[in-house]
Amino acid sequence: MAQYATNTLEQHWMPFTANRDFKADPRLIVRSEGIHYWNHKGERIIDASSGLFCCAAGHARKEIADAVGRQLMEMDYCTHFQLGHPSSFELARRVAQLTPEGLDHVFFANSGSEAVDTALKIAMAYHHARGEGQRQRFVSRERAYHGVNIGGTSLAGLMKNREAFGAVMPGVVHMRHTWNPEDRFTKGQPASGAELADDLKRICELHGGETVAACFVEPIAGSTGILVPPVGYLQRLREICDEYGVLLVFDEVICGFGRTGKAFAAQSFDVTPDVMTMAKAITNGAQPMGAVVVQDEIYETVVDAAPDGAVEFFHGYTFGAHPAACAAALATLDIYEREKLFERAAELSPYFLDRFFALRGTPGIADLRGYGMLAAFDLGPDGAPGRRGAKAMKRLFASGLYVKFTADCGLVAPPLMAREGDIDDICTILEEVLADI
Ligand SMILES: Cc1ncc(COP(=O)(O)O)c(C=O)c1O
Repeated sequence: MAQYATNTLEQHWMPFTANRDFKADPRLIVRSEGIHYWNHKGERIIDASSGLFCCAAGHARKEIADAVGRQLMEMDYCTHFQLGHPSSFELARRVAQLTPEGLDHVFFANSGSEAVDTALKIAMAYHHARGEGQRQRFVSRERAYHGVNIGGTSLAGLMKNREAFGAVMPGVVHMRHTWNPEDRFTKGQPASGAELADDLKRICELHGGETVAACFVEPIAGSTGILVPPVGYLQRLREICDEYGVLLVFDEVICGFGRTGKAFAAQSFDVTPDVMTMAKAITNGAQPMGAVVVQDEIYETVVDAAPDGAVEFFHGYTFGAHPAACAAALATLDIYEREKLFERAAELSPYFLDRFFALRGTPGIADLRGYGMLAAFDLGPDGAPGRRGAKAMKRLFASGLYVKFTADCGLVAPPLMAREGDIDDICTILEEVLADI
């Protein structure tokens, strides 16, 4: 095992972290396997959030590490501008097999944020190629998280992720979020609220539907706290997009690769978008990778609009479709298929959600939500927003459980290979620790 001794934590400016607080009492992870982490003190911790929704097949999968090692020794890097390597084409074919019919063209990036920014540009390039370049406006939603690049920041619906950065990309209009306090403790989809999708119609009527390029939504709003779409909501968005010629983009960065019990949430909710973004579990977290998958008509329109021999889409990343990431993703998809992890998620979900919703009644828990293998609990606030969540996260970690928090909301998304006993362990620690927060 590689050991990196360090006497200082000062120089690394950590993202989305209270740096001074962390450095005073660090939580360093030095080993991972299955559903477990080990910290620098040798203590074992259950990873109840699959890293950051990445490690669906569990940590430290040898097949993936071996595939990456082999690829790096065979061919470590080539640009994929004007050159190619076989594994990216094979990976695109495999991803297209998993996405809904008609979404068969894949553009690779290195993260969810890059996938989102790529999707924004694809939408603009598509409308431009169709002679509708006036479609420059985007619709997003309150409480949305679409990564941290400038495009994703503009789409963001979380105040803290926006407030310091001003109106970085003008022309983004936000629909209302779908959380309704009257639906607290709803397991699965809330029965009411589909009419909230009509916000998109109102925006199209206000600004002119012909000025709107695309509507971005997470099928289940993830980072903000697992807001499950009301029954009929996504279908209604689809209808309104069709009515106004607006592209529907599903950001599946968290929902994708089995988390909802099917390959993608699009299939779980039976709504086909025009564009899908994905990342995280595409490589089981072992290598950075993001991807955008588009309807064939979008690819063909952009590609056919350019003269023969000319570059069609002026966009791409040095490390997009990196050979090591492609190797990791191919090995990951093999594991998902061999171990039937998407089906397994669907089978385990009722047990997981029943056990999780038994937390209702635990003092301090203000709401529970969940769908598939994704769930969240809200803690009632305690003074400043986030204070109680930070305290809970540290106490849980000290008790052997890692849970990702957004402010006062804990996000629970165990690896899909977890067993019922693991779910019991997670929920027992949650019960014990949260009762006293
Ligand atoms: C829905 C969604 N989109 C985009 C992103 C950004 O992904 P990344 O952190 O890989 O840039 C995230 C990250 O959590 C996400 O949840």
